[in-house]
Amino acid sequence: MNTVINSGLEGVVAAQTRLSQVNGQIGQLILAGFPVEAVADKATFEEMLYLLWYDKLPSASELIEFSGALAAYRPLSEVGFAVLERAAAAQVPVIDALRMAASTLSLGPTGSISDDQPGQAALAAVAGFPTIVAAYWRLLQGETPVAPRLDLSHAANYLYMLTGQVPSPEKTRGLETYLNTVIDHGLNASTFTARVIISTQSDMISAVVGALGALKGPLHGCAPGPALDMVFEIGQIERAEAYLRAKLDRGERLMGFGHRVYKVRDPRAEVLSKAAARLYEADGDVALYDLVRAVEEKAVALLAEYKPGRNLQTNVEFYTALLLHGLGLESELFTPTFA
Ligand code: ACO
Repeated sequence: MNTVINSGLEGVVAAQTRLSQVNGQIGQLILAGFPVEAVADKATFEEMLYLLWYDKLPSASELIEFSGALAAYRPLSEVGFAVLERAAAAQVPVIDALRMAASTLSLGPTGSISDDQPGQAALAAVAGFPTIVAAYWRLLQGETPVAPRLDLSHAANYLYMLTGQVPSPEKTRGLETYLNTVIDHGLNASTFTARVIISTQSDMISAVVGALGALKGPLHGCAPGPALDMVFEIGQIERAEAYLRAKLDRGERLMGFGHRVYKVRDPRAEVLSKAAARLYEADGDVALYDLVRAVEEKAVALLAEYKPGRNLQTNVEFYTALLLHGLGLESELFTPTFA
């Protein structure tokens, strides 16, 4: 008997979901019924989260109640902080410190999260991740963590905890657009990992900790930092071709290009590129934005030449890097912010 071996999930239908629909051939992403480009730069993160969890947009009063319930889970337990302090003493990378402290979210801000109420663990995970990342980032810099503010939105509070300053509406909007753009994407590697864990009737915090392990791999969620490093190393538009050719001649991959599903430009790249353009025009380095556009154009052309027929196009990570850099985030924070 011939056994068919699928070395990946290509062509395998493993689950059904109403959360998002990804069409890699035409470059379409539908989030709970809405095309990503129609909602990502308009809705707040809380509205998008509500839409995914409850399958409808919230009314004004539902949004206030939901935002308050989420914010209540922002404070981190003492154990969580202790883990971060030990991690900072060992100068552990941010994504690893997040994985270590994420396990402690089972304790919740004031006590244990109930296994009987999965909603609590979901709130704790979504609200707790930004607190962990921001607190750890400040500990790494030798600064005191900034306590979360429960009156700010999810996105504004994250930037506030990182910097100690309430961000401008433009920066908050930029981060919300990013978070909304990557809020769901079907069964990618990390989501699949989480679902495998949940399918054993394990708990949600275990699932997100496992998912983090998959996300941190350089071929998945760790691409934006190297993508931006590449742009900085290129430095000037005239150097792009020689630099990229040398990389491809060495058999290296261009980070931020190619996708397991999208065979045309990732629709999220367009949303993030527009959001970055708005941010950089407002108070950023427009020359960097122009350089990124030029590098993208050159990279796509060279990938077509070096890997004909592969349809290697720009993926979400390329513009993630530009947008998050424009928000003032260091590249070590890109993947943890994605998480
Ligand atoms: N640069 C150069 N060559 C590439 C690239 C790239 N970015 N991507 C794929 N290739 C080449 C491969 O070397 C391979 O060539 P070969 O057959 O001659 O050896 C061919 O294209 C097919 O590559 P696969 O890895 O089989 O393609 P797959 O669709 O499985 O890969 C992946 C998808 C892993 C994302 C790949 O395109 C890649 O490594 N990209 C760079 C990393 C990156 O940007 N990751 C972020 C993805 S988005 C996300 O995870 C949220």
